[in-house]
Amino acid sequence: MANPSSFASHFRHISAVYDKALERSNFDQLNVYSGARKYRHNDDLPYPFHVNTQFKALIPLADAPYSWVIWRPSQKPTLVFLQSLNFWYAPPSLPEDGWLDLFDVVVIRSPEEARPYVTTGGNCAFLGEPDPGIASWNVGERNPESMIHFLAWFRSYKTPYEVSCIEEANRISAKGHCAAREVFYQGGSEFEVSEAFQLACSQGEDELAYPSVIGINEHAAILHYIVRDRKSPPKENLHSMLIDAGASFAGYASDVTRTYAFAEGMFKDMIVALDREQRGFVDRLNTAETYQEANIDALTSVAALLKDFGVIKCCVDTALELGVVQVFMPHGISHFLGLQVHDVGGQQAGLDGELPNPDSRIQTANRLHRKVEPGHVVTVEPGIYFIETLLKQIAESRNRGIVDWDVVEQLRPYGGIRIEDNIAVSADGVVNLTRDAFGAV
Ligand code: GLY
Ligand code: MN
Ligand code: MN
Repeated sequence: MANPSSFASHFRHISAVYDKALERSNFDQLNVYSGARKYRHNDDLPYPFHVNTQFKALIPLADAPYSWVIWRPSQKPTLVFLQSLNFWYAPPSLPEDGWLDLFDVVVIRSPEEARPYVTTGGNCAFLGEPDPGIASWNVGERNPESMIHFLAWFRSYKTPYEVSCIEEANRISAKGHCAAREVFYQGGSEFEVSEAFQLACSQGEDELAYPSVIGINEHAAILHYIVRDRKSPPKENLHSMLIDAGASFAGYASDVTRTYAFAEGMFKDMIVALDREQRGFVDRLNTAETYQEANIDALTSVAALLKDFGVIKCCVDTALELGVVQVFMPHGISHFLGLQVHDVGGQQAGLDGELPNPDSRIQTANRLHRKVEPGHVVTVEPGIYFIETLLKQIAESRNRGIVDWDVVEQLRPYGGIRIEDNIAVSADGVVNLTRDAFGAV
């Protein structure tokens, strides 16, 4: 449960941000919609409900379909909360937490009952997914871009309450990761590892921050591998496991990856080396001006590591300039973390959503282009992968000779490595929420 006292000071902070957002766009009411339930085509079974994070940014409620937060500058906000009398499913319940006192609460019994509260005829803005049920409602200007950018910009500065939620999510994840590691070393399948993680976290699949990525052997080369084989390879063919799995807490995500080798050897040495580099990136993070700079730092170190292990033969600068190291690490080093696992606000250069101007050596998939600033919570997640399609591209290019293909063949059955921690940046330095959490388990 959210801690009510720190929630109150968090709430004071976001109140100022939302009041300002309304004031600068000349709206006098903001209607934030939690979202509708979605159903499978031609079926009466709903998909799992995932609340709009713009709603969750104001109120720590996840199970609240068809509900609204109504925000007016300098006034107590209203929560319009649907508790239907549908006897098929348990109705969502309101928590007993003290934070509820910060809202005027209106309980409605059908989605339609919200209409008079959000169609006041005033100068309103609407944030959320416009589902067909509210298509004809005059809820105000839908998703005004300038407001979205402004709010996303400020969402990147986490309050102490938010950092404590991400910290707690990491504590839960650390328990899950320890259980998962044990199952892997006992020869368990990807599916069994996934079950062990969830059980130790006591979170169902849809409560986790994102679908767990659990790849044994070559599967570790697929960045978001979520198949989860029921069978594990025989122990003589068991090489490695990459697990990228994160629990959530009070709506906040953790995002944690560990990679394990089943036996001693070059791949295990590579994990140890990348782990050492990763801790270095974390320590140096707030000496970087921008996350782009941190990204180049990471690519440079990964290139040096690949050279040390004999995977590439050229010098570090050439590996970066020719895009060779990016074949082995085709993702960015960091992204924002918060109410979403890839939290908003990283792709804008200013609070009005100006586009960043990325360094050409960094992948277009890079999610973070901001200055490194106190209040940010980010991941630091270097990787080295042996990805079939990308290796083929380089093998067929004129840079083929830069790679030692015999070494690649030795490492290919291991898939890849990612080591990912969650880092809170403050004026005094950085705090590694993940390593602290593992240390406490
Ligand atoms: N778990 C997704 C990511 O690491 O970005
Ligand atoms: Mn991540
Ligand atoms: Mn991850």
